Formats: sequence, C-alpha cells, structure tokens
Amino acid sequence: MKTAENLIRDFQHTFHTKKIPRMFFAPGRINLIGEHTDYNGGHVFPASISYGTYSLGAKRDDQKLRFYSMNFPKIGIIECDLKNLEFQEKHDWANYPKGIFLYLIEAGFDISTGADILYYGNIPNGAGLSSSASIELVTGVLVEGLYEKEINRLELIKLGQKVENRYIAVNSGIMDQFAVGMGKQNHAILLNCDTLEYNYAPLHLADHVIMIMNTNKERKLADSKYNERRAECEAALHDLQNKLEIHSLGELTPEQFEENKQAITNSTNQRRAKHVVYENARTLEAFNQLQQENLDAFAKLLNESHLSLRDDYEVTGRELDTITETAWEVDGVLGARMVGAGFGGCAIAIIEKDKTEEAKEYINAVYQEKLGYEATFYTATIGDGAKEIMKGAKR
Ligand code: GLA
Repeated sequence: MKTAENLIRDFQHTFHTKKIPRMFFAPGRINLIGEHTDYNGGHVFPASISYGTYSLGAKRDDQKLRFYSMNFPKIGIIECDLKNLEFQEKHDWANYPKGIFLYLIEAGFDISTGADILYYGNIPNGAGLSSSASIELVTGVLVEGLYEKEINRLELIKLGQKVENRYIAVNSGIMDQFAVGMGKQNHAILLNCDTLEYNYAPLHLADHVIMIMNTNKERKLADSKYNERRAECEAALHDLQNKLEIHSLGELTPEQFEENKQAITNSTNQRRAKHVVYENARTLEAFNQLQQENLDAFAKLLNESHLSLRDDYEVTGRELDTITETAWEVDGVLGARMVGAGFGGCAIAIIEKDKTEEAKEYINAVYQEKLGYEATFYTATIGDGAKEIMKGAKR
C-alpha cells in the first residue's frame, strides 16, 4: 500500500517535475445481489469498497495529455494530444481516461490545456471489482478538480458507461459506474436501473463481515460472453413483447413470467430471462431483509442468486463454483455468491468475523487442490464514492 507522500514522489519522478499534484480517489465495487439485471431494467444492490484507484494530476501549459500507471510500469508514459483523443489499441489502459476526456469535451466542457496524470490502483486486475469504472470515475473527478468544473454526478456516471459501450465496445450496464460514483461509507445502494431511482441501505452486519474471495482466474472470455448474454435477453424480451406490453424484463414479476414464459421460443433464452426476473425479485427482497437486519434470510438469497447464475444464466464456471460452494460448507458462513460479470473474478461471502481466518485457510486448501493454484481473500470495507482526497499547492 502506497502513502500519499510516496505517490507524490512517484508523480514528480515520473514526470520530471517539482509540481505538487492534486490527488483523487475512486473506489471499486462489490455487488451484494442483482447480477445481470442492470441492462435488463432491473434492480442492483452494489456497494463501493475501500480498494480503488488513486490519480494524481497537474495541469500543463500545452495541449498534451500524459498518462502513467504504477500498475503497468512496462507500458511507460502514454502521451496524446487533446486534439486527437480517438481510441488507439496501442494506448492500452489509457484508453479509459482518454475516453473520459473526449466525451467531456464533446459534452461541452472547456478543457483547453493538457495534464500529467499518474494512476495507482490497488484493485486486483481482472477481479471483476470494476477497476475500469474506477479509472473512468477517478478521471472524471480529476477533471472536475484540476479544471474547476462542476460535472453533474449522474452525467459523469452515464459518461463512464458511454466510454465502456462506445469507446471500448463492451455493452455493459450502469451498475459499476453508479456504484463507484455514488458510493457511501457503510452503505449499499439499491438502484432501479430503469428509472435510476436509488436508496441507500445501511450495512448492519452485526458481528459479520463481507469477505471477498478472488479466484485469481482472469475474466478472459468475459466480454464476448457478456455481449452474448445481453443478446439472449434481448431475444427473450422480443418474444415476450408479442404477448405483453413491456419494455424490459425487469418489469416482470416471477408470477407474470411463469404465466407467459412459453412465448419465449428458445429454451436457453427462456432460462436467461428466468434468471433476470427471479434475480430482480430476490434483490428487492434482499434489500428488505437487510433493512430488517434479517441476515440469515438475506444471505440465503445470495446463495439462490449464485445457483441461478450457475444453472440458468451460466456465467459462473469451475473456479467461481468451487470457491462459492466450498464457502457454503464453512462454519460461520451465512451465504456466498459470485460477483460481477462472472467467468472468473471474485465471489463474496457473509461470514462471522471471528471465523474468517479459519475459513480462508479451508477454502484456499480446497480451491488449491481442485484448481492447482491459490485464491486470495480480502475483507471488504465499504467506503465513499469518487472524490478529491488532497488538494496540492496551487500553481
Ligand atoms: C459487469 C457490468 C455491469 C453488470 C455486471 C453483471 O460488471 O459492467 O454493468 O452488468 O457485469 O451484473
């Protein structure tokens, strides 16, 4: 873990400058429940975590943007001009901040001079904890701070999603950017992805914690499979629209789904839609149970969510199933499920605080025996959304 002083020194060293940069942070996120519902107009229930991305920046006098990530030192400084911010394969991770700059400029924000920006992230790469949304949002708040702009938070969140969808070409929903942009310490956010109405729910976990279990399997196939699932849901919706006046799967209750499911001609698509409808109902139920501090009932819904993602939506895979199902066996674990897009990445478990060490050891031993490599474990602390954390000396 780097301190602010370390990072400032890294910034000055990297960019050969004595300027004191300003410092910003955006978290990663977990999702308690409500998976693959966001792009179907359903509900999600994410929370922002204390792991995330730091960015340190100082304005320049010319029009150059220079990006450097402490996480990808071999790539070195990536340089581009404010006048040419088109996506470029060779710019690798820096396409995320470039996309944010481009769309902010297109949205009318006057950004006429460049900047030197250093990034440092402590979210494990490819873990499905939204490192990309974190980079997008931290760049957004950096632009706000450095260029003294007021950017409506929801506008920034939507702009981050637009970078994923149009600039990077991953057809993802709004959950990640929303959680990263709107997170609140010790709270989860129930978000209606159709209307974007939201409610904060205090995370009263009594003597329990949320343990993050990283399969250390990178989500390689994730993007193509993700777009495939989206298309399957769209086909299911299209079939249902022959019978019902709906504009998203998120509008259906499980009862309405059961009455009308025969309209979905393809059986695979029917299972995909079933997951979405029941997962949406589970998410609302989970919110209520958590509000009433019924942790057992809440955690049971997490287990059901995993089963549905495994059997009907088919986005788990051997690694996530092994880690989650092993967690279910452990004394002190109330519930566990995969998180995010799936096909690798992380799962979460609600576990008695005093039992975490033993649990990690056991789960890791079983995981290593079955998969041949280790898993990694973290305790999630729920922190705030994207913000400035340190103002540098004014130039
Ligand atoms: C990824 C996407 C989100 C959401 C989840 C699945 O994290 O970026 O928009 O669809 O997968 O719930």
